[in-house]
Amino acid sequence: MSRSHDTPAPRPSAFRPRRLRTTPAMRRLTAQTRLHPEDLVLPMFVREGLEESVPIASMPGVHQHSLDGFRSALADAAEAGIGGVMLFGVPEKRDAVGSQATDPDGILNLATRIAVEEVGDELVVQTDLCLDEFTDHGHCGVLADDGSVDNDATLERYAEMALVQAEAGSALLGLSGMMDGQVGVVRDALEKAGHTSTAVLAYAAKYASSFYGPFREAVDSQLSGDRRSYQMDNANSREALLEVELDIAEGADVVMVKPAGSYLDILAAVAARSTVPVWAYQVSGEYAMIEAAAANGWIDRERAIDESVLAIKRAGADAILTYWAVELADRLTSR
Ligand code: PBG
Repeated sequence: MSRSHDTPAPRPSAFRPRRLRTTPAMRRLTAQTRLHPEDLVLPMFVREGLEESVPIASMPGVHQHSLDGFRSALADAAEAGIGGVMLFGVPEKRDAVGSQATDPDGILNLATRIAVEEVGDELVVQTDLCLDEFTDHGHCGVLADDGSVDNDATLERYAEMALVQAEAGSALLGLSGMMDGQVGVVRDALEKAGHTSTAVLAYAAKYASSFYGPFREAVDSQLSGDRRSYQMDNANSREALLEVELDIAEGADVVMVKPAGSYLDILAAVAARSTVPVWAYQVSGEYAMIEAAAANGWIDRERAIDESVLAIKRAGADAILTYWAVELADRLTSR
């Protein structure tokens, strides 16, 4: 930082940054970044055909919800005062084109109607718009004859999904499939059908990441292989800015960086340039690593959670998707 020339420079020995760290009250007053419950979005899994919610082994504390379990978890989320929920559906039947994704009575669309009815006034109800939970091959799109993921055929499916999700009452569609042109196609479909108020969250810079590991269990993924032909390469940062630029030009209302913790440089760069809100997704593997280390007594669980989420905010995220959203909101409120 340069000082203006008429301000006398203090003697170097007078610089004691520790003054502002002396007491909890001083640290609280001078903290530059703060988390609020409203910054947090809870991802939730709803599984078709369950009598009761079942725990996800690789994500201690996270469940695949039955419809009843889902209702009570929604009530907890609203009570905690978080910003919203992002819904994922786990269907009983899967096929090559992910038919359940566009069935108005498919599990995700059913869950969306329930969420809107139960907490739609308090929370922004958001839905994952992607085919991977619904396809029998586990890819985020439909396949061409040669087995590759067919970008433009997938866009048609996404446009259909968008309309069904908007009909079900989703306020914000989370486009997580990383197909080229997906934001524009979905925006056009929504406008044509009169869903002009339904917003689009573009997973603009989504990397092909090992940190999605536990999520595959959470949605009972059928994937063998990987998603490197459509998700971004870990080595690239410039390309993230291109993805963000394209998505904003196509009509994205919010852009996202994902995962969060290993991509804070990307997040900061996107936050510096974006003209729309920038969110980040602290993904399943980021959650699992802290829970696993804490369960072994190797780190202080609560402090590690707080620090990991605060770092994402400090790097520039306006809101954060995290599986700890409710716990963290409760902790923030009780401080
Ligand atoms: C795709 C999707 C994934 C996640 C969110 N949406 C999985 C993937 O891209 O492989 C991962 C989220 C997490 O790991 O918590 N529908």
